[in-house]
Amino acid sequence: MDQLHLGIIGVSGRGGMARHWQDNPRAEVVAGMDVNSDALADFQERMGNQPFVTTDLEALLNRDDVEAVGVFSPDFTHEEYAVAALEAGKHVFCEKPLAITTEGCDRILRAWKASGKRLMVGFNMRYMNIFRVMKEVIDSGAIGEPKAAWCRHFVGHGGWFYYHDWHARVDGTNSLLLQKGSHDLDMLHWLTGSYTQRVAAFGSLDFFGGGQPNDLTCPECERARDCPEYIEWPDHEKCVFRQEVEVEDNQVMIMELENGIKASYLQCHFTPDYHRNYTIIGTEGRVENSEPEMKVWVKTRRSRHDWKALADRTYDVKPAEGGHGGADPVITQDFLDMVLDGKEPLATPVAGRMSVAAGCAGAQSLRQGGGVVEIPPLAW
Ligand SMILES: NC(=O)c1ccc[n+]([C@@H]2O[C@H](COP(=O)([O-])OP(=O)(O)OC[C@H]3O[C@@H](n4cnc5c(N)ncnc54)[C@H](O)[C@@H]3O)[C@@H](O)[C@H]2O)c1
Repeated sequence: MDQLHLGIIGVSGRGGMARHWQDNPRAEVVAGMDVNSDALADFQERMGNQPFVTTDLEALLNRDDVEAVGVFSPDFTHEEYAVAALEAGKHVFCEKPLAITTEGCDRILRAWKASGKRLMVGFNMRYMNIFRVMKEVIDSGAIGEPKAAWCRHFVGHGGWFYYHDWHARVDGTNSLLLQKGSHDLDMLHWLTGSYTQRVAAFGSLDFFGGGQPNDLTCPECERARDCPEYIEWPDHEKCVFRQEVEVEDNQVMIMELENGIKASYLQCHFTPDYHRNYTIIGTEGRVENSEPEMKVWVKTRRSRHDWKALADRTYDVKPAEGGHGGADPVITQDFLDMVLDGKEPLATPVAGRMSVAAGCAGAQSLRQGGGVVEIPPLAW
């Protein structure tokens, strides 16, 4: 196969990723499926080649010219669509989180194994230059054997991203620990080379949610002029202070990973700035990033006399061209290399399952008072 023909499920929003395949000579987007007919009409125009469009999943999956499917619809649809596409004999690129339950992920993995097709998850952070530098530092042995890790995620636009639409409900995402957090938990796994074994967590809804009616939207709101959360974005403009908002906006989780690594994860959605700050501490040193400054620092242990030593090495990292610091075109290329050339992808299905499992366990723990929850073994 020289060229891969793709169908896109969920054509607007994150479905904009389709353009990276359409721009690639080894791919062609031939079809789109969505519940929104206006979005389909816009997609048809954007793709430039008049792809087939439909609101019916079966109509997309029954097409022989669709060899692979990209699932870019909301989280709660991933399990149904990924399983159906694999059972229909299509290769699948599934956005993160792989599913909104651990059992849902295992179901996808079983369908994947039974299909003999290729499956990849949308962990584009694995392809971002700043985190690749951190990974190279750790893999080089510069900090020794990883033993401790943290991620502090300051989600500076939490209202904009997560509280105006389906993301804010448990039946939409389960929890932001596995929605937003599936990236962060995956990065902790990927950087340390270890999966989470058990967790405990605390969290609550401390800023968003409230007493506003569920059908109130920003353009209709009499307080729109003064509200810092005001937004004009069709389908994503419900009031962030409405009654149905339920997923926690402030949560902290501790984890024990394989090899005895201790990790912690803070995710807060009402900070003024945006920053994902990771530290991995090993037996020989420590690596840390600053996303706003695009820097990575490495400090190594020496004698007790120079404990104030500044970083031994500082990396000034340049983002590449393209969405998400250049990661989006690279991850779409990795998918093509996987399907067309048989290459192993960086963003593996098992990694997708393990980050969801850690996030689900965290959500379970914090909703049951903070007790320890073990990660269930893979069931495939
Ligand atoms: N990897 C990343 O960096 C990244 C970034 C953004 C979003 N995402 C993921 O992409 C997915 C979509 O997020 P979004 O913000 O674009 O969502 P969205 O609400 O904008 O929806 C995306 C598209 O899906 C369509 N859609 C909605 N319900 C559908 C259904 N039942 N069946 C088919 N299509 C449906 C919408 O009409 C829209 O065109 C999420 O799972 C999210 O986690 C990943």
